Amino acid sequence: MLFPISYILKIYQKYGTFWDVFIDKIGNRQIKKEVCNIDSFITWIGGKKLLRKNIVAQFPKEGIEKYVEVFGGAAWVLFSKEEHAPKEVYNDINSDLVNLFRMMKYHPEALEKELQFCLNAREIYQLYLHSKDREDLTEIQKAARFFYLIKASYGGKVASFGGNFRNIAHIKNLEDIQNRLSRVLIENKSYMDIIKRHDSIGTLFYCDPPYYQTEKYYDMGDFVFDESQHIQLKYALSNIKGKFVLSYNDHPFIRNLYQDFFMESIERNNNLGVAAGGEKDTGN
Ligand SMILES: C[S@@+](CC[C@H](N)C(=O)[O-])C[C@H]1O[C@@H](n2cnc3c(N)ncnc32)[C@H](O)[C@@H]1O
Repeated sequence: MLFPISYILKIYQKYGTFWDVFIDKIGNRQIKKEVCNIDSFITWIGGKKLLRKNIVAQFPKEGIEKYVEVFGGAAWVLFSKEEHAPKEVYNDINSDLVNLFRMMKYHPEALEKELQFCLNAREIYQLYLHSKDREDLTEIQKAARFFYLIKASYGGKVASFGGNFRNIAHIKNLEDIQNRLSRVLIENKSYMDIIKRHDSIGTLFYCDPPYYQTEKYYDMGDFVFDESQHIQLKYALSNIKGKFVLSYNDHPFIRNLYQDFFMESIERNNNLGVAAGGEKDTGN
C-alpha cells in the first residue's frame, strides 16, 4: 500500500547563486538531466535513493570546487553523479559506517573475502550484533560484520534479524563503488566540525540530517541529535561562506526555523507503507 508523505526537498539561501539557479531553472524550463551513476551498496534509514535525482538537479552547475556530504549515510546523492566537484568529502558520525566506507575504498576484495564465510542465520546475526566492537577484530572484520548486520537485518536498520533470503555476502557494485570512493575524502566527525573545516566560497554542503522527531533512528548512545542540534545546524549554515542544500521532513518547526530561507517541497510515496504507523521509511 502507498502512503503519500510530504518532504521539504531542499532549503537554500534566499540570495545568491541558489536563487539565480532557481530562477533560471523555472524561467527556461531547462532542467539538466543528471546522470544517475551508481547505486549505493547498502540500504540505510533515510537514504535518498528515490529523491537523489531531484536533489542533484538543484545543485549549482558551476563554481563548486568542493562538495561535502555532511550526513553521508549510504551516500545515495554522492554516488548518483560521477563527480560533484573536483574535491569531494563524505562524512558521517557513525564510526561503524565510516569504517565500512573506508574498507570499501581501500580493501574491497578483502572485505568480500571476509564475507564469503558468513551464513545468513539468526544465531550469527545475534553473535555479530553483540560482538561487532570487539577489540581483537581487524577493521576489515568489523566492516564485514557491520555490512552483514545491515544486509541481514530488517529494513537495513541493524535492529532485528530480517529473515530474508538475500545473498548477504554479495556487495553490489563493488568495483564501481571503490572507484568512485577513490577520489573522496572520508571523514568521521560531527556536522559542526565538518562545516567549519571545509567551508570556503567554493564549497557546496549537502546536508541530510536526522529528520525532526525521528532522530532516535540514528541514536549513537553517547550522542543524541536533539532539538538543540537542529537549531545549531541552522546557525552554522547561516554563517558559512559557501553554499548549502538541505533536506528535511516537512514539519512546522523546520519551516519556522528556516523561514528566512528559500524552501521547495516535494511529495512522494512511502513505498514501505509504514507512515501510517508513525514510523519513518528507510528511504531505500
Ligand atoms: C538521513 S541519514 C542520511 C542519509 C543519506 N543522505 C543517504 O542517502 O543514505 C542521516 C545521517 O546522519 C548521521 N548523523 C547523525 N548525527 C550526525 C552528526 N551529528 N554529524 C554527522 N552525521 C550525523 C547518521 O548517522 C545518518 O547516517
